[in-house]
Amino acid sequence: MSVLFFKRFLKRPFQIASIVPSSQALVERVASKIDFKRARVIAEYGPGEGVHSRALAQRMRPDAELLLFELDPAFSRDLARQFAGDRRVRVINANAMTIRSELIQRGIVQCDYIISGIPFSILEKEKKRNLLQQTHEALAPGGAFIIYQVTNELRQHATDFASAASEYFLQNIPPMFITVFRKAAVANGNGAVDSAARLSSNYAQ
Ligand SMILES: C[S@@+](CC[C@H](N)C(=O)[O-])C[C@H]1O[C@@H](n2cnc3c(N)ncnc32)[C@H](O)[C@@H]1O
Repeated sequence: MSVLFFKRFLKRPFQIASIVPSSQALVERVASKIDFKRARVIAEYGPGEGVHSRALAQRMRPDAELLLFELDPAFSRDLARQFAGDRRVRVINANAMTIRSELIQRGIVQCDYIISGIPFSILEKEKKRNLLQQTHEALAPGGAFIIYQVTNELRQHATDFASAASEYFLQNIPPMFITVFRKAAVANGNGAVDSAARLSSNYAQ
């Protein structure tokens, strides 16, 4: 068990919401939902001690970027230390709610994927919906928001997304619903929807 994880849980039980990090099996399963060949910008909400972040960084393209939004200062310091040698990774010690202003500051238009481990279920309804809206706007057309949660109640609030696909994953303590919310892709010149469509660049010119 990660000692840092347990200590931070004792300090902020509602924000951390778990006494152990995700299992390696859950990490692999979440990573399997991502097309790393195409992903240029990935954001992660609530990386904690970085169990998913390390897997993402291992699989990412050399020119991709990973933005880690972590509220807890001790986790953020530890993540900054772990990724000090990886120029693709940025640790942002801030609320995930700030994603759009953080993207603007970095000249990034939108993300291809946003992964979330934050305990949505404990957020008030308004905050939950607000964060979902910010997340939807921060994603490129065809991009995906991937969450792992003990309950699947977020589905009823995520009405902006074009689709949602869930699975119940048992190889974690506790078992988790993994849900992929997909933002609608843009229509191509023929009027058909191109699921591979992306903005021409994720970076502002
Ligand atoms: C259950 S832990 C998950 C940690 C890690 N992702 C894992 O799978 O083991 C939740 C993490 O989300 C962070 N967190 C909670 N609310 C947040 C928010 N609004 N913005 C950014 N991080 C948040 C907590 O500090 C904690 O590190």
